[in-house]
Amino acid sequence: MKVLKIAALSLMAIGLLVFVACTSSTDTNGEIGKGKMVFNDVNFGAGTSEKSCNSCHPDGKGLEKAGDKKEFNIMGKKQNSLEEAVNVCIEMALKGKAIDPVSEDMVNIVAYIKSLK
Ligand code: HEC
Repeated sequence: MKVLKIAALSLMAIGLLVFVACTSSTDTNGEIGKGKMVFNDVNFGAGTSEKSCNSCHPDGKGLEKAGDKKEFNIMGKKQNSLEEAVNVCIEMALKGKAIDPVSEDMVNIVAYIKSLK
């Protein structure tokens, strides 16, 4: 009986570890589907332009190489990461507020952009 209990408990512990490992890995890699929703959301970034990313980059057109780039140059300003480039578009194009580069929305939107290539 005791052996069975220990076996059951170990199985549960392993299950929990696998679950934690899986959920945290989706966190760091982002979720493409959620990123696409944000990309199409006219309210994203609290922008006042009534545009979404998709208004200027329909279905991510033109962003196919962005996932691999290390340097960006948008509207005369230089950016050193994809997150910075996204924030420039939020501020200048959507007329919104830059978001935390490690926030869930940013991680998901970056996952979506990286999936375009
Ligand atoms: C008003 C139009 C407009 C909107 C809205 C817009 N962008 Fe942009 N975006 C541009 C322009 C213009 C450029 C610079 C030219 C280019 O590289 O296509 C650019 C460049 C970029 C780049 C760099 C591409 C590269 O390879 O250098 C990324 C990434 C990007 N935008 C993401 C976004 C995201 C994410 C959103 C939504 C938060 C967004 N854009 C909203 C117009 C817009």
